[in-house]
Amino acid sequence: MPTDTTTASVSSSGPWDAKLQQFHGGQEWTQLSNFVEDFSVTTNPFGMPSAAKLAAAHSIEHSHHYPPADQEPAKSSLARFLWPSEFETERDRLILGNGASELIDLVIRMAPAGTWRPGPFYTQYKEYERSARNNNFTMLSPDTSDKANVACLVNPCNPTGDYLELPELKAWISANVLPGGYAIIDESMQPWHSEQFRKHSLISQREYVEELYREQGISVFVMHSWTKLWCCTGLRLGSVVCPTAEHMRAIKKIQVPWSVNTVALAFLNAVVDDAEYLKDTWELTPAWRKATVDQLRELFPEWEFHGREFLSWIWIDTKDASVAERAVELARAAGVPVRSGRPGYNLPTFIRVAVRHPAKVDVLVGALKAI
Ligand SMILES: Cc1ncc(COP(=O)(O)O)c(C=O)c1O
Repeated sequence: MPTDTTTASVSSSGPWDAKLQQFHGGQEWTQLSNFVEDFSVTTNPFGMPSAAKLAAAHSIEHSHHYPPADQEPAKSSLARFLWPSEFETERDRLILGNGASELIDLVIRMAPAGTWRPGPFYTQYKEYERSARNNNFTMLSPDTSDKANVACLVNPCNPTGDYLELPELKAWISANVLPGGYAIIDESMQPWHSEQFRKHSLISQREYVEELYREQGISVFVMHSWTKLWCCTGLRLGSVVCPTAEHMRAIKKIQVPWSVNTVALAFLNAVVDDAEYLKDTWELTPAWRKATVDQLRELFPEWEFHGREFLSWIWIDTKDASVAERAVELARAAGVPVRSGRPGYNLPTFIRVAVRHPAKVDVLVGALKAI
C-alpha cells in the first residue's frame, strides 16, 4: 500500500516516525537527565489540578471493571461546566473522546467527501490536515477563495496565537464551507479567554448552529482538547459539541467502546468543580506571559512575539533559523525544552515557548543568554 508522506516533518526527531506521524512537542522530557520544565507544550502552567488528580488516583481501585459505556457521570459534569444553566438540553450534543485527537479523526471520517481547507492563518495545528489526507480529501490552500466540503479552523490558533471573535468566526464559516459541508472549529485554547469564555464561544450559539444546519445543511462541530486547560496530556481527554444529537450518535456509532478510560473519566468528573484552579489560570497566565515576553524582548529586541495576551504560550519569530535552532539546543541542554517551529510547521525561524512559573522562566532566560 503506498504511503502518503506529505504531512511528515522535514527534520523531526526522537520518538516520532517522521514518515508516518505528525511531529508534536512534549516528548523530550524523559530523555533529559537535568529536566526542569517542559516549555514545548501548551499545557496549563499550574500542572494537574490536585483534587482531580487525587480522584484519578483513587479510581485505579476500580479499574479492574470496565468504564461506563455512556461516559457518565463525567459527560454530564462536563456539560454542566460548558452550559451551567442549559446543560440538560445541551448534553445530548456532547461526546467525550480519548483526547481531541480521537474525535478529530472520527469527525473527519464521517464528513462528506471532497475538499478540505484549513483556517485563515498561515499555519495551524496539523492533526486536522493529517486526518483529511488519510481520508483522501483534496487539500485546498489557506489562501484559496474556494469553499470546501470540510473546513477546520483552530481558534485560538495553535501555534500562531491568532483569535477570531464570534462575528468574524461566523463570517469565516459562511465564506468557506459549502452547503451540506462540515465546519470543525477547535476551541481547545478558548477557555483561557476569561471567566466569560462561554459567551465568546461557539458553544453558546445553539440557535446560529441550528439555523445553519436547517438552512444550508452545514454542520458545525466545536472541538475541545481538555489535556491543555487541565494539564492532563497523559490521561487523554477531549470532547466535541455536535450540531445535533443525531450527529453525536453518528460519532458514537463509529467510536471504539470505552475509549475514555476510568481514570480519565474520574479526573474529568472532579476537575470541572475546581473553580480556584481556573481563577488562578485566568489571573496569572496573562501576567506570567507578559513578564516572559518583557524579559525576552529586552534580551532580543529583534524578535517578534505573537499571540493573544491570555494564551498559554508565546509564538516567537527570531527572524533567523540559526538563532531559533540555537535557542532550541540551549533550552534542551538546560532541561527546559521549547518547541521548534521547523518540524511539522516548517517555519524554521520560529520557536514556541509555554507560559510557565517565573522561577522556571529564569532557567530558560538564563540558558538563552548564551545565544
Ligand atoms: C489546538 C489543539 N487541538 C487538539 C489537540 C489534541 O489534543 P489531545 O489529543 O491531547 O486532546 C491539541 C494538542 O496539542 C491542540 O493544540
